[in-house]
Amino acid sequence: MIADRIEKLAPSGIRAFFDLVLGMPDVISLGVGEPDFITPWKIREKAITALEEGFTSYTSNQGLFVLRQDIARYLKKKYSLYYTPKEEILITVGVSEGFDLALRAILEPGDSVIIVSPHYVSYPALVEVAYGKVLYLVTKEEDGFKINPKKLCELVKKNPKAIVLNYPSNPTGVTYSREELKEIWKILSSKEILVISDEIYGELTYDADHVPVASLDKKAKRQTILLSGFSKGYAMTGFRVGFACAHKKIISAMTKIHAYSMLCGPIISQLAATEALKAQREVIQMRQEYKRRRDFIVKELNALGLSVTQPQGAFYCFPSLGKFKLNSLEFAKKLLFEEKVAVVPGRAFGKEFDSYLRISYANTLDNLKKAIIRIERFLKKLP
Ligand SMILES: Cc1ncc(COP(=O)(O)O)c(C=O)c1O
Repeated sequence: MIADRIEKLAPSGIRAFFDLVLGMPDVISLGVGEPDFITPWKIREKAITALEEGFTSYTSNQGLFVLRQDIARYLKKKYSLYYTPKEEILITVGVSEGFDLALRAILEPGDSVIIVSPHYVSYPALVEVAYGKVLYLVTKEEDGFKINPKKLCELVKKNPKAIVLNYPSNPTGVTYSREELKEIWKILSSKEILVISDEIYGELTYDADHVPVASLDKKAKRQTILLSGFSKGYAMTGFRVGFACAHKKIISAMTKIHAYSMLCGPIISQLAATEALKAQREVIQMRQEYKRRRDFIVKELNALGLSVTQPQGAFYCFPSLGKFKLNSLEFAKKLLFEEKVAVVPGRAFGKEFDSYLRISYANTLDNLKKAIIRIERFLKKLP
């Protein structure tokens, strides 16, 4: 009864692992991929007021015009990147829906898409659901988990339809400077390859400002589908609201699918998002707190011999198991059962990453300190 390509999809490695965590008492979870902060009050208040005022209807398929206007203004002010609210912005149900729509709008069956690994768990599955083929660009720790231009040139020769960029990255926290992006873009711009750029963690960079690839030049903007949203930087995962910005033809195609399958994003969340864009002070406070935690956890993990490539954004780090001779699943399971610390096995982000772990520092500094004591005790027991 089930379509072959769906039957063959492997379940998310993260889910499978976290089914083990469910129901275990006293676990410190460094596994979750969402902020530990509650959505700032003024955003919640806006949602409450919207409900009280009776905003309970559908919106236009493309999303509330006022929100699209706010997003356009925000991108222009922050990145000098201008999209017209009428034709070049679509409000989606999170980046998750935006990503799915982008693939379905551009792929013919059999088209290939470059995915840079280690990668966010959903990418390969959604490419396959959209009848695409995945070309993996596997990064290396010695390259700082960044795209190797030579490898990119090789893959570009295979005529992919698109490449997925995600920076700051889930799971490594690595991001790209303007110069690095220019080098990547130079390779991509020689061909008509579309860039699906998942910049959901763009608000969360700690050492330098985020640079959207679409802001590099006019051609980059034309060839890029910029995906972002409110889940991470604004601690609004449960609101399910994101946006896609791209050339009007692409937005029109994505809107067609969205209109038939989703109708529109939830109105309460869209109204709350208009308030979110005004809550920059709260975003800065959360960012400062993540930075403090990053500095702590990276220093401590390195001292324990779990070497970490310095993450510059998001709220993850991706330590190497190095001298500890367990694979990532064995390590994560043992750590969970013996010391009640949950981390995600690296293999969930690509089969080449079975000697890494993803550790999320979206948890309080107190819990991170306790977790480090437990990890240290655990490592001492290992042969
Ligand atoms: C890289 C990346 N993209 C997209 C998402 C999903 O975002 P949203 O909540 O906007 O659907 C996540 C969530 O973990 C993510 O890490």
